[in-house]
Amino acid sequence: MQSYLKLLLENKSWAKEKVEVDPDFFTNLAKLQTPEFLWIGCSDSRVSADQITGTQPGEIFVHRNIANLVVNTDVNLMAVLDYAINHLKVKHVIVCGHYGCGGVKASMCKTDLKYILNMWLRNIKDIQRIYEEELNNIADEEKRYDRLVELNVKEQVLNLAKSSIIQNAWKGGDIPHLHGWVYSLNDGIIKPVFEMKAGTKINSIYEFE
Ligand code: CO
Repeated sequence: MQSYLKLLLENKSWAKEKVEVDPDFFTNLAKLQTPEFLWIGCSDSRVSADQITGTQPGEIFVHRNIANLVVNTDVNLMAVLDYAINHLKVKHVIVCGHYGCGGVKASMCKTDLKYILNMWLRNIKDIQRIYEEELNNIADEEKRYDRLVELNVKEQVLNLAKSSIIQNAWKGGDIPHLHGWVYSLNDGIIKPVFEMKAGTKINSIYEFE
């Protein structure tokens, strides 16, 4: 059997199982979407937002890209953020990276991955420059790599706070809270590494009136 056909078969048995447990599962879900969380994660196939958090369909609004970056010129991500904040009114935005991230690793080497990937990964190289001193003081390469994964998540949370979308939401109320998490592929555990509660003061250079 073609591998993709297995996906369709699995889908049928999943849908059947859901209805067996709760006959109204799909009728209830189809009515409305009120997720409390926006998840910005890595596209890595091993880090599935709902599986690792034990959440059900309808609970998390998801955006994923290589190395979970929040790039201010990324119209796709900014549209997701706008919709999640201003229409869904999510209470928490979670940037979740993961140790062993191929995108972060690629940004640490000098290999020319050609135009588009070079463009994307430049964002992480800039983080290496910001934290050059701290990173250079870590002798062990694996540990330095792990630390860059954490710093990347922190910087992406800061990037969220630099956006007028988040700043306006904070002016108008006490949500959303921003979280930076790192997932470990080795033990499946998520480690919170950075947090910004709604209303946290940011560098005034990035403040809008
Ligand atoms: Co990754």
